[in-house]
Amino acid sequence: MSKQSLSQTRKDSLNILVLASGNGSNLQALIDAERAGRLDRGRIGMVIADREGAYALTRAQNAGIKTLTEKPDPKLPGAMRRRDLSDRMLARARTGGMDFIILAGFLSILEGDIIEAYRGRIINLHPSLLPKYGGKGMYGEKVHQAVLAAGEKESGCTVHLVDEGTDTGPILLQRRVPVLEGDDSESLAARIHAEEHKAIVEAALMMIKSLAN
Ligand code: GAR
Repeated sequence: MSKQSLSQTRKDSLNILVLASGNGSNLQALIDAERAGRLDRGRIGMVIADREGAYALTRAQNAGIKTLTEKPDPKLPGAMRRRDLSDRMLARARTGGMDFIILAGFLSILEGDIIEAYRGRIINLHPSLLPKYGGKGMYGEKVHQAVLAAGEKESGCTVHLVDEGTDTGPILLQRRVPVLEGDDSESLAARIHAEEHKAIVEAALMMIKSLAN
């Protein structure tokens, strides 16, 4: 749906599709924000995981949110596999009437038509201060290990719009944390997670405000 047609319909609520791969603590932050009335017109309409048994699915089900699993097809080669999964996500988003998409700990890479169809309407959460420590293969613990190995004094998280690249789209916001002496990837990840839970809600609100106007 184009921005114009969306604003013409002046919808009371905006349907959010959340894509996740694992624990889903950032999804939980969004669920808690919606429950507490802190998500404005945002409504988490559906959660899709790219792997079976992702705890994010349990969190969504506990909150009464529709869930689906769409897994990468192992029979397809890399690029085709990413394209096929992305196309299935796009079909789900369209049929579900989703207004925007949040990648909250989603480890597959979206490619192809979904990028154009939802341009400016897909946000990704990344556990570093992009453009540092982003790109293919940089996710989760690997990011924190790289930050520590480089002797950085600071890290954080970034929420950005998704474009054709990996972790390259326009940055919406960042939150920073210090890297402390004696940190390991676990302690650094925990400090960043706490900031991510605020950042993801703040970024969702930015999207809701810009799309609802
Ligand atoms: C988060 O730290 C998020 O930034 C990261 O995965 C974690 C998911 O945590 N995402 C990436 O690395 C994407 N490149 P969660 O499942 O508890 O929300």
